Amino acid sequence: MHNDISEIYFSEQDLADRVREMGEAITRDYAGVAGSDGIVVISILRGGAVFTCDLIRAIDLPLEVDFMAVSSYGNGVKSSGVVRILKDLNTDIRGRHVIIAEDIIDSGLTLKYLMQNLESRGPASMTVAALMRKNTENQADIPCRYVGFTCPDKFIVGYGLDYAERYRNLPYIGVLKPEIYQ
Ligand code: PRP
Repeated sequence: MHNDISEIYFSEQDLADRVREMGEAITRDYAGVAGSDGIVVISILRGGAVFTCDLIRAIDLPLEVDFMAVSSYGNGVKSSGVVRILKDLNTDIRGRHVIIAEDIIDSGLTLKYLMQNLESRGPASMTVAALMRKNTENQADIPCRYVGFTCPDKFIVGYGLDYAERYRNLPYIGVLKPEIYQ
């Protein structure tokens, strides 16, 4: 696996430090609302799973975690904006404080759909924590309260991000060598 990587873009330490900061910010911001109707962190599978597992351990408040799996219809390269729910929540989020944990925002269309869908379920509040946000032209207008990093315009994998379902288990985010995907 490591031989397929040309450059480590965010090291294991970079990721640990930034995710800890994001968790600390969430802890500060939600300290007043963490009662019994408190926080539900919703992890968007599959890419968001690794980030979520680290993020929740950096939040020093009572919370629940749940998972959604979605797939976008389209040609597989760009999101079409039409999203199919493959796995829905087990949790009723009505009246709860929802934090959506995503690995990356590119077109923003996945989150736009998800936020509309989740909003219709009547949460008390909803924010987004994204590990990375790309500088994509015409990105959907997503109010993203917690952003870890601006994402490079490179083919990156690791820490949850895949190429053909591989590399998600790399502990860092690295740039994939072009010969692997060309
Ligand atoms: C990635 C990522 C986001 C989405 C972002 O998921 O995890 O969910 O794409 O793209 P967008 O902002 O253009 O909508 P992907 O469809 O690759 O599935 P995965 O998480 O299972 O790898």
